[in-house]
Amino acid sequence: MAKSPGFASTLPDQLKLSCVLVTGGAGFIGSAVVRHLVRETDVTVVNVDALTYAANPDSLQEALHHRRHHLEHIDICDAAALQAVFQRYRPQAVMHLAAESHVDRSIAGPAAFVRTNVVGTSTLLEVAREHWQSMRGEARQAFRFHHVSTDEVFGSLGPQGAFDESSPYRPNSPYAASKAASDHLVRAWHRTYGLPVVTSNCSNNYGPCQFPEKLIPLVILRALAGESLPVYGDGQQVRDWLYVEDHAHALRTVLTQGQVGATYCIGGRAERTNLEVIQAVCAVLDRLRPDPQGSYARLVRHVADRPGHDQRYAIDPSHIARELGWQPRESFDSGIEKTVRWYLDNPQWVDRVQSGAYRQWLEQNYANRPSPT
Ligand code: NAD
Ligand code: DAU
Repeated sequence: MAKSPGFASTLPDQLKLSCVLVTGGAGFIGSAVVRHLVRETDVTVVNVDALTYAANPDSLQEALHHRRHHLEHIDICDAAALQAVFQRYRPQAVMHLAAESHVDRSIAGPAAFVRTNVVGTSTLLEVAREHWQSMRGEARQAFRFHHVSTDEVFGSLGPQGAFDESSPYRPNSPYAASKAASDHLVRAWHRTYGLPVVTSNCSNNYGPCQFPEKLIPLVILRALAGESLPVYGDGQQVRDWLYVEDHAHALRTVLTQGQVGATYCIGGRAERTNLEVIQAVCAVLDRLRPDPQGSYARLVRHVADRPGHDQRYAIDPSHIARELGWQPRESFDSGIEKTVRWYLDNPQWVDRVQSGAYRQWLEQNYANRPSPT
């Protein structure tokens, strides 16, 4: 895609943005959004991130030291630090991705999920509201708070049907419940205070730079190491997969063209059972990096199921397609091929995650550094 000078040139009747504050921009999806904004637009990106285990500066690639990218080591529960960063940069929009994101971790320790996803979101909303209320004229009209959420808030589907913008909230895991709470807070800040919000609920993402606790990178890296490939329960649970760069593009579209107060369901119409996903990854690996001992699929092992495991997610993305013209570019097959190739072609990223070396940069640059005041 050609680089566009700010959002304004490609979307003349929409928002004119020169500075966007992205939370969680050092994580998997956030880093894809930051890379997209730095590469494809002229906006300045303020990346607010607490730099937890899920943050990886390597994933920011050339954006890390780009003059239009500012990484701010801030916890979204820290109102004073957030106020300082809003005053310093005066952002015209917020894209809120910061979260604890891994379902298994939420089962082992839900408190961190309530803290960041619920308390952190309400803290950010309050600071964004103060900022928005201090704005005047066109800038105030144009301000947006984009909340990035998940299809997991809708619970589990039977064999038929798909989630859409009218699906009821039925979260089942502590992660899903904390994200559902955050969606409700965002709605309330719009209805009560008039904060101009837009919310998106997306299905499972995969692609480059995903932390290998999640199914697809976990399977790629364990297979290459000759380790067992753990399938929870019978492996017949269904997820609806979307390549992360398609999500980043959808998020830009929702931010700049979405209706204030609306929600958008984002998905790739790519439902697969977990076993099918693992088999697809193994098939690409068999082709690109054949193992003399036989197909990687021989390593599949069924293990204990996830407690409260949702059976099926599927998104009907026709609203965003119809209203905003967004479509994914990658099919499941092309996205899986790209993803496996990326992990094979980036052994340094993989080694630094697996050894923990990816934390060294953070420790050298940010350890004990007070938040800006
Ligand atoms: P991730 O875990 O890879 O990254 C989360 C980022 O948030 C990390 O950089 C982390 O350091 C940061 N963070 C965590 N706690 C923070 C805090 N208290 N203050 C500031 N920063 C904090 O997550 P992801 O997979 O990139 O997901 C990003 C967002 O998208 C989340 O809100 C998630 O709920 C949502 N989402 C994810 C998926 C998916 O498949 N991964 C699908 C739909 C929606
Ligand atoms: O649906 C969107 C959600 O997708 C996001 O909101 C979450 O942040 C993201 O983590 C993801 O949640 P899942 O729980 O679906 O992703 P995960 O990769 O952990 O698991 C995908 C499926 O694979 C799920 O049904 C559990 C199963 N699984 C997972 C792992 C890690 C296994 O069978 N074996 C495994 O080792």
